[in-house]
Amino acid sequence: MPVLSGASGAGIAEKLAPILDMEHVALESRRFPDGEAYVRIPPESIESVRSESVVLVSNTFPDSGIMQTLLLLGAIRDVRKGDLSSLKGEWSGDTEDVGPGVFLAIPYYGYARQDKRFSAGESISAKMVTEVVSRYCDGIAILDLHAPEVLEGMDVPIEFVSSMPEIAERLQNGVSPDFILSPDKGAISRATEVAGLIGCDFSYLEKTRIDAHTIEHTPKNLDVSGKVVAIVDDMISTGGTICRASDALRRQGATEVHAACTHGLFTGGALSRLANHVDGVYTTDSLPNPRASVSAAPALARGLSRLMEKVTHNG
Ligand code: R5P
Repeated sequence: MPVLSGASGAGIAEKLAPILDMEHVALESRRFPDGEAYVRIPPESIESVRSESVVLVSNTFPDSGIMQTLLLLGAIRDVRKGDLSSLKGEWSGDTEDVGPGVFLAIPYYGYARQDKRFSAGESISAKMVTEVVSRYCDGIAILDLHAPEVLEGMDVPIEFVSSMPEIAERLQNGVSPDFILSPDKGAISRATEVAGLIGCDFSYLEKTRIDAHTIEHTPKNLDVSGKVVAIVDDMISTGGTICRASDALRRQGATEVHAACTHGLFTGGALSRLANHVDGVYTTDSLPNPRASVSAAPALARGLSRLMEKVTHNG
């Protein structure tokens, strides 16, 4: 059984395949001069893609990642159905429909943060992405989705997985924190998990987002004097949330402040901004970035195993 990847998933797919006892098959993906995507399952991999179950690792980020994921899923579907319509060249392989068994692993699920309508007429983008990709697969594993509740009741089974166990291990071995802080209420469950695994104290801040670049925390007394603190979140984008939380921790006497998250987006100079506020930054490789030191593969493997078990059991 193969773990397939296009451009965005190759690194993770390579690590994921041996954990699942599968082989990694890289699919072709490139861009036309006008920027449009092209994908192809190489002829020598077609039989492999027609095997019982296949996993595709692909991010739905940035916008081009959504298109590439769709084209890859379309190519996989057609090859598995034996659909050769409009084929200009020759093909002498099998063409019977091999049936369901396509699982999508999404390390970074783009568009996750718009999970509500803040005013009439908005699109709930977090839902739209799944509504589209779920037409072409039999189940999805998503890593540390911002707010999983938004995907309740979708047409295919979804496994939500988390890299917090691996992040806890990385923090424990790297900085051995005394205290874990969630920078807002949304990250409480992730940060408590990390604190529980490390066996250290935990608290959280209440955050108000004024705009994309400005956030405010409600003042709160934290027992961090003389302590090494790690702030844990699902993602870092501009770095504003982490920088403000770090300022609050330093004012209250924290001796070291580190930041850890699953998804390191690091937009608009975030890494330089963070360098002035925290002593270290740790992320998974769900998005390629210079601070990625935790593999997303083990978490995705846990979700995919559960998903395949569930689908096989119910099928
Ligand atoms: C929002 O609730 C998320 O969990 C993150 O806290 C947020 O996306 C981080 O964004 P930024 O780095 O721009 O503050």
